[in-house]
Amino acid sequence: MQRYMYAFMMATVARLRWSTIWLLVPVAAAIVLSKFASTTRRAPQQLPPVVVVPGYATNELDARLTELYHPSSPRCGAHKGKGWFRLYLNYTALEDAADVRCFAEQMATAYDAASDDYRNAQGVETRVPFFGSTRAFRYPDPDRRNFSYMDKFVSRLERLGYRDGENLFGAPYDFRYAVAPPGHPSRVGDAFFGRLRRLVERASRANGGGPVTIVAHSYGGTLAHQFLLRRPLPWRRRFVRRFVPVAAPWGGVVLGMLTIVAGNNLGLPFVDPLALKGEYRSLQSSLWPLPNPNAFRAGQPLVTTRSRTYTAHDMADFLDAIGLGAAIVPYQSRVLPLFRELPSPRVPVACVVGVGLDTPEMLAYPGDDFDVTPMMVMGDGDGLVNLVSLLAVDPAWRLPAAYFRMLKTSK
Ligand SMILES: *[C@@H]1O[C@H](CO)[C@@H](O)[C@H](O)[C@H]1NC(C)=O
Ligand SMILES: *[C@@H]1O[C@H](CO)[C@@H](O)[C@H](O)[C@H]1NC(C)=O
Repeated sequence: MQRYMYAFMMATVARLRWSTIWLLVPVAAAIVLSKFASTTRRAPQQLPPVVVVPGYATNELDARLTELYHPSSPRCGAHKGKGWFRLYLNYTALEDAADVRCFAEQMATAYDAASDDYRNAQGVETRVPFFGSTRAFRYPDPDRRNFSYMDKFVSRLERLGYRDGENLFGAPYDFRYAVAPPGHPSRVGDAFFGRLRRLVERASRANGGGPVTIVAHSYGGTLAHQFLLRRPLPWRRRFVRRFVPVAAPWGGVVLGMLTIVAGNNLGLPFVDPLALKGEYRSLQSSLWPLPNPNAFRAGQPLVTTRSRTYTAHDMADFLDAIGLGAAIVPYQSRVLPLFRELPSPRVPVACVVGVGLDTPEMLAYPGDDFDVTPMMVMGDGDGLVNLVSLLAVDPAWRLPAAYFRMLKTSK
């Protein structure tokens, strides 16, 4: 393993995310069809239907500002009372730092301890447009088509004969939310799982009743895994031909600790991550990628400061140290239990992962405060997700599955 110190630049996170998905596209596309002897173009009826669950911050979100919304400035209230608009992604609306503040306040959620669930900011209603179609995420901003994580993948499937709405379907979701373990409400996440179930059933019905391939990228992979676990086994066997998680961070991501410290600019190079720090910290989905003890061994330092070392077992202390003590209860009750065990979904699985790229494996803060840029120690992975995390379900999933493949690709 190559290890060296590396000065941090937020823009690298965005670049890495791009290189990762592009690296994986050909393999993921081939896997969709891998049961066939050849990959030449076929009539749509012969292709197994595919439902795509995109990764984090990949699909559009609409918002509507009601009378209950109290904008922090008149500028932020510009859409108030004027119906639905595209909150994510409107590239143009984020080019001005003043508008980024409005975006942050409208994207933020809050954990409500009384109802044990997350909710939108007051007066902000949101919806996920184009459910069922890859149109929802082919370009996060349809007015800026050179910014896309999924276009290449969708195009590849189209060249193989796939058609949106016929044998190819998209399952976008509100990526600010997640789902919670049984016994904890998750209004938004549960509604998504209901829609996803109906979409899989519809995709099957529209294609002769055969089973469906679910391709899920990154965060979408961990979500789709939870979805499968909640479906009865006979349903999974009836409707799921194959589960293809691409670059899924089963064990969390060391860089997830950095983004929760410093904010996440969503891959937009001109947006200052610090401007989205409060917004990012308010989301349940921001707690999902924190490294978990399933993948990272006890005693492995992930973040160091002058006086403290944090391992995957120390996330509560870490959240406290970065001033996010309010997230400890939801993290421990709503997130960690989902990742303590990673049961096999008991359907055929082909994991597609990228390896051999420098991936941040430890963040070293020179002092005790987190307001500075840490040095990063690099290890193996896909540039964003650490190798131990990508591989965390192997070999556990080999045993109960009829079919399990871990496909590693490198540059
Ligand atoms: C995107 O934002 C710009 C600038 O605020 C605005 O003029 C445009 O109408 C918005 N586009 C959409 C589709 O909402
Ligand atoms: C996309 O195009 C716009 C202008 O057409 C340009 O300013 C921007 O840098 C491009 N983005 C990428 C990621 O290439």
